[in-house]
Amino acid sequence: MRRLSPSFFYKFVILFFIGIIILVVSNTLRAQEKQNPDQQLQYKSDHSADIENTILNEKVDSVLALMKINEKIGQLVQYSGGWDVTGPSSSKGDQHKLDKLKKGEVGSMLNVTSVASIRETQRIVMEHSRLKIPLIFAYDVIHGYKTIFPIPLGESASWDLDMIGQSAYIAAKESAASGLNWTFAPMIDVSRDARWGRVMEGAGEDTFLNAEIGVARIKGFQGNNLANVNTIAACAKHFAGYGFGEAGRDYNTVHIGEYELHNTILPPFKAAADAGVATFMNSFNDIDGIPATGHKVLQRDVLKGKWNWDGFIVSDWGSIGEMVAHGYALDKEHAAEIAMNAGSDMDMESYAYEAALETLLDENKVTIAQIDDAVKRVLKLKFELGLFDDPYRYCDEERERTQVYTPEHLYVSRNVAKKSIVLLKNENELLPLSKTINSIAVIGPLADDKNSPLGNWRAKAEYNSAISLLEGVKASADKNTTIYYEKGIDLTIPTVEPGQNQFLHPLQFNTTDRSGIEKAVKAAKKADVVLLAIGEDAYQTGEGRSQTDIGFKGLQIELLEAVQAVNPNVVVVLMNGRPMDLSRPTELAPAILECWHLGSQSGYAIADVLFGRYNPSGKLPVSFPHNVGQEPLYYNQKNTGRPYNPKHVTFSGYRDAPKTALYPFGFGLSYTTFEYSNLKTSKTEINTDGSLLVTVDVKNTGDVMGEEVVQLYIRDLVGSLTRPIKELKGFQKIQLEPGETKTVTFLLDKERLQFYTINKTWEVEPGQFNIWVGGSSEASLKTSFTVVE
Ligand code: BGC
Repeated sequence: MRRLSPSFFYKFVILFFIGIIILVVSNTLRAQEKQNPDQQLQYKSDHSADIENTILNEKVDSVLALMKINEKIGQLVQYSGGWDVTGPSSSKGDQHKLDKLKKGEVGSMLNVTSVASIRETQRIVMEHSRLKIPLIFAYDVIHGYKTIFPIPLGESASWDLDMIGQSAYIAAKESAASGLNWTFAPMIDVSRDARWGRVMEGAGEDTFLNAEIGVARIKGFQGNNLANVNTIAACAKHFAGYGFGEAGRDYNTVHIGEYELHNTILPPFKAAADAGVATFMNSFNDIDGIPATGHKVLQRDVLKGKWNWDGFIVSDWGSIGEMVAHGYALDKEHAAEIAMNAGSDMDMESYAYEAALETLLDENKVTIAQIDDAVKRVLKLKFELGLFDDPYRYCDEERERTQVYTPEHLYVSRNVAKKSIVLLKNENELLPLSKTINSIAVIGPLADDKNSPLGNWRAKAEYNSAISLLEGVKASADKNTTIYYEKGIDLTIPTVEPGQNQFLHPLQFNTTDRSGIEKAVKAAKKADVVLLAIGEDAYQTGEGRSQTDIGFKGLQIELLEAVQAVNPNVVVVLMNGRPMDLSRPTELAPAILECWHLGSQSGYAIADVLFGRYNPSGKLPVSFPHNVGQEPLYYNQKNTGRPYNPKHVTFSGYRDAPKTALYPFGFGLSYTTFEYSNLKTSKTEINTDGSLLVTVDVKNTGDVMGEEVVQLYIRDLVGSLTRPIKELKGFQKIQLEPGETKTVTFLLDKERLQFYTINKTWEVEPGQFNIWVGGSSEASLKTSFTVVE
C-alpha cells in the first residue's frame, strides 16, 4: 500500500475542513432565509425579469380568455363590506353584494377585516363562482394596523426614510397577517393649506419630500416581492390635485395650471410609479373643470401612457358616480362611460360599472380593448400577490394571533414617535427636564387622553390604547419627583359613546365648563414645571374635517393663560394633526414641543424627549403660520414682481402680518446646536446634462450628542417660467457627537435641476442657480453655480 505523503495529508485535511465550513455556512444561510423570508435578497437579471413578465402576461391572458363579459366587468367592481365573521347580513345591500360575489362579479372588497371574515368572504367566491377568481381585500392602513405609528404628517417630521419604511413594513406585516392584501396608502398629495383636514395624512407641503417619503412608504408596504406573506400592495393617492382644494375645503375645486400641476403635484406620483407602486387611486376634486376620476389626460395619457405604468387605478369612494353631482355626467351610466374612457379601472362603491359597462359596450361607447386592459391589470396583481396559487394565502389564524401588536412592533412605534417630535421653542433650556426635578404638573385636556394620540385613520387600533402623556411621565420620572395631574377643561363635548366609531360624527367644541381651571392653577402653582397638553382631538383632522380656524378650540388658551400666570415654566406639549396658529403659546410659553398624534406609544416617546433620553431631531414638514389668514402658506413661493421691501408699502404680502411663517418648513431645534461652514461645489459651471457635488461641514457645537437633518435648497434664478424662491433638493439625517464635525455631500444632477418648462417637457435650463444648505428652509449659507448650454 502506498503511504500518503505528509503534505498530501495536510492538504486533504485543509480541504476537508473548508468543505465542512462551506456546508455549515450555506446551511445556516438557508435556515436564516427560511426563518426570515423578508431578508432574502432578490437578485434578478433583466433577462429573467423579462421571462417572468412574459409568463405572468400569459397567465393573465389565459384567465382572460375564459371570462364572459359579466365576469370581466365584475373584476372592475369593488364593494365595501363592513360585515363580520358570519359574512353578509340580510340587509338588501348586503344581499346584492352576496349575489354578485356568488356570480363572480366582484373583483375586490374593502373594509372586510380579520382572517375569519376574509376567509369567509373568499370562500363564497371560491365555492360558488364559475371561474373562482380570488378577491383582493383592501383597507385604509394609513399609519399602522393595530400597532399605531405617528400620523403620516408627524412621521414625516422625522425625515428618516429608513424609519418610515420600517413603520410601513410593520403596518403591512400586521395587515397581511390579518388577511389583507392591499392598503390605500400612501397619500402623496402635496398639501399647503392647514385648513384642509387631510394635511395629517401626507408628508406636507413639499414636492421633493413627498416623493422621497412616498417611495419609502411604498417600499415598506410592498417589499421586493408582493407574494411574500409579510407584504401588501400599496396605492398612490389621490391622483391628482386633491391637496389643492380651494381654501382648504375638502373635495373642492382645484384651480391649477398645467405647469404647476407637473412641477408641484405630479412628481411624487411619478416617483411612486417608478418605484413600482401596485395601484393608484384617483380623486374627488376637479382640476380646471375636469373631475380627476374622468381625467383622460392624467390617467391614460400621462400615467399609463408617458409613464408606462402597468398597475391599476381604483376610483375614490363613489367618485365615478359623483361626476353627476359635479355636473360633468348626465347620470351614472354617463359617468361610467367617462371614467372608463379616461382610464379609471376599478369602481369603488359607485355601482356604475356594474350597471352600465355592458350596455356601453353594446352601444360602442366604451371598447372591449379598454375593458380587457383594465381587467388584465387587476388580474396581474392577483397573480403577483399569489392569490391564484392559494386564495387563502394570507388567511392564517396563527399569524394573526402572533404577529399583530407585538412588543417588537410597539418598540419600533416608540422609536418612530420620538423621532417625529419637533422642538419648536426652548428658552433658557427649560428642556430637557432635570432628573432630580422636585415636582411636575401635568395639565390639560389631552394630558391623560389615551385616545387622541392614535389620530384619525387608525385602522384596527383599540379605543383608548395609546400611552398618555401622564402615563409616560409617571413611568419616566424619578421616584422622588411629585407629579400632579389636572385635566383643567374638556376639549370636546362627546357626541357618541366612548369606543363608538367616530369617523362620521362631527365634534363639538363649545365647552363652557371652567370648574377645573382653578384646580389646574393650584397644581401649576405647586410645581417646578408645567407640562400643558393642548391641541386637537384625533377626529379634528382627517377626511371631511376642514376648518377655517386653526387655533385652539374651546377654553384651551384660557387654560394656558391661567396656568402661565402662576407658573411661567410652561412646556406646551402640542398634539395635533395640522399646522396650528401658535402665536399665543409662542408669546406665553418658554417651551413648545410639537408631538402630533404620535400613536400607540405616544406618552413614552414624549417622555423620552422631555427627560432628555432622546435628543429631539424632528423638522417641520409644513410651515406654521402666524395666523390662519396666511394660508395657504409654504416656503417655496414665487418671488412675484413685488417681493417684500421694508421701505415700501406696495409689496406682495399683508399689512397686518408677516409674509413668512412663524415656524418655517424644515425647522426644528435640538438640545445641542449645529454650525454649518465650508459650503463648496465641485464645479462652478456644468452643462445641461452635467452634475456637481455640494459639500458642507456640519459641527455639533453643544455638549450632547444630536441628530441634524441637513437640507439643501436651490433656486433657478431665471427660467422660461417663473421659479420658486427656494426648492428642497436633498436632505440627509446625520448624527454628531459633541464637538464632532462631518462633511456632508449632495449630488446635484439633471434629475434635481430640471423642471417642466415652457416646452412642456423636463429640461435643465442654462443660467445661474443659487444653493443654500442648512437646518431649515431659512438656511442662509449660500453659494452658486452656472449651467451653460
Ligand atoms: C378616501 C380615500 C379612502 C377611501 C376608502 C375615501 O373617502 O378619500 O382616501 O381610501 O375613502 O376608505
